[in-house]
Amino acid sequence: MRFFIDTANTEDVKKANDMGIICGVTTNPSLIAKEGRDFVEVIKEITSIVDGPISGEVKATTEDAEGMIAEGREIAAIHPNMVVKIPMTVEGLKAVKVLTAEGIRTNVTLVFSAAQALLAARAGATYVSPFLGRLDDISMPGIDLICDIMDIFKEHGIETEIIAASVRNPIHVIDCAKAGADIATVPYSVLVQMVKHPLTDQGIEKFKADYKTVFGE
Ligand code: E4P
Repeated sequence: MRFFIDTANTEDVKKANDMGIICGVTTNPSLIAKEGRDFVEVIKEITSIVDGPISGEVKATTEDAEGMIAEGREIAAIHPNMVVKIPMTVEGLKAVKVLTAEGIRTNVTLVFSAAQALLAARAGATYVSPFLGRLDDISMPGIDLICDIMDIFKEHGIETEIIAASVRNPIHVIDCAKAGADIATVPYSVLVQMVKHPLTDQGIEKFKADYKTVFGE
C-alpha cells in the first residue's frame, strides 16, 4: 500500500515528502478553505514539492457535469501530475466519463458504498476514495467498505485504484493495508503517530544514557 498525504498545508506536504514516505497528495474544498489561500497557488506549490498524483477537487458549488468538465480541464492544465477530484453524483459520473475520454485522470470522492465505487470505476475513474472515518462516525465499519470494494474490483478485474480516505488513526492505516487498499491518504498528524512508539523512545533514551555513562557527552 502506498501513502498519499491528505492536506492542503504545504508545510506538512514538505515534511512528509522529506521523510520519503508519500508519493501523492489529496486535497478537498474544506482543506483548501482551511489554508485560506488561492486554490491554484496552493496546488502549484504542492506540485513543486511532490512528484506524483495530486488530487485537486472541482469547486464545491459546481454541481452540473458541464461545469465540472470545464473546471476539470483547468485543474488538469495546472500540471501533468494533476488528478481531478469529482464528487460521487450522477453529474459527477458524466464528468468522469468525458474527462477520462480526454485522458484526464479522475478521483471519485465521497464514496460511501460499494455500489458507488463500482459505478465510478465503470465511468472510468482512475481512483475511488471510500471514506472510512466518516462511516465509523455513524457506527458503520468503514473498513468493511474497503474490503467489499477490494473483493469486487478483484473479482471483475477492475483497474481503478482504491484510495482509503478519511483516515483518522494508525489502526485505520493498518486495517487498510491488510485489506489490500492500493493507497491510503493520511493526514500529517496520523503519519507522525505512525512513526511513534513508546518503546522506541525508551530505547533511544537508554542507548543515550548507556553511551554517556562510558564515553560522556
Ligand atoms: C479524501 O480525499 C478526503 O480529503 C479526506 O480523506 C476527508 O477526510 P475527513 O473525513 O477527515 O474530512
